[in-house]
Amino acid sequence: MLRFTVYLAEMAESTLIGGGLTLVATGIVQDAPGAGKLLCVVVCGAGPAPRVGALIGLAQAAGWSVRVVATPSAVGFLDTAGPSAGYGVDVRSEFRAAAGGGPRSPHADAVIVAPATYNTINKLAAGVNDTYALNVVAEAIGRGTPVVVLPFVNAALAARRPFVAAVESLRSEGVRVLLGPGQWQPHEPGSGDRHLAAFPWRAALAALPAVPDVA
Ligand SMILES: Cc1cc2nc3c(=O)[nH]c(=O)nc-3n(C[C@H](O)[C@H](O)[C@H](O)COP(=O)(O)O)c2cc1C
Repeated sequence: MLRFTVYLAEMAESTLIGGGLTLVATGIVQDAPGAGKLLCVVVCGAGPAPRVGALIGLAQAAGWSVRVVATPSAVGFLDTAGPSAGYGVDVRSEFRAAAGGGPRSPHADAVIVAPATYNTINKLAAGVNDTYALNVVAEAIGRGTPVVVLPFVNAALAARRPFVAAVESLRSEGVRVLLGPGQWQPHEPGSGDRHLAAFPWRAALAALPAVPDVA
């Protein structure tokens, strides 16, 4: 199991999340959207992956407890050697047995897949289950847990029929795929590095529906 450190450098200021609620990134607000809830962030092997700390920090500021699941490809993207800022969360990329046992991870109240690759979006829609990350998202969809998918896919790949069909299929299952006008737009092939800073982590969090409290 990897230990991952989150950087809050870009979040030292007040942050506007969801329906206009203002939160201070360095503190937990009791009636925040995620208060007492568990958010699973699934990271795939795409350019924005090393910056997932931005999403973790925003989610924690909104009251969420956060766990991270990385695809095997994403593990190599993650920055595990940054300075410890006290916001570390555990990162899992393998099934429990393959990771040497340990406690079972609790079911999340909500799941965000970001950045979501062409590969994972296609496989998820098709029902392929060959990574722990895919299993976590597939089970979440099947249980009716809110799932938001924020892709980072170039325009050539996003134009492929299998991808278009996969997005439609996921939406028909209730998954919120943040793709299209007014949402995240695919970039030209080869230009991904120029779009990393604008990757809309905040939009993924804002797209989560309110998660009801369980009595
Ligand atoms: C440096 C690098 C950058 C990549 N960027 C992307 C990307 O932005 N979007 C994407 O869909 N795939 C990207 N890929 C390809 C994926 O990593 C590859 O399809 C991989 O199989 C994805 O696995 P996963 O979906 O299980 O994470 C990139 C690969 C490398 C090596």
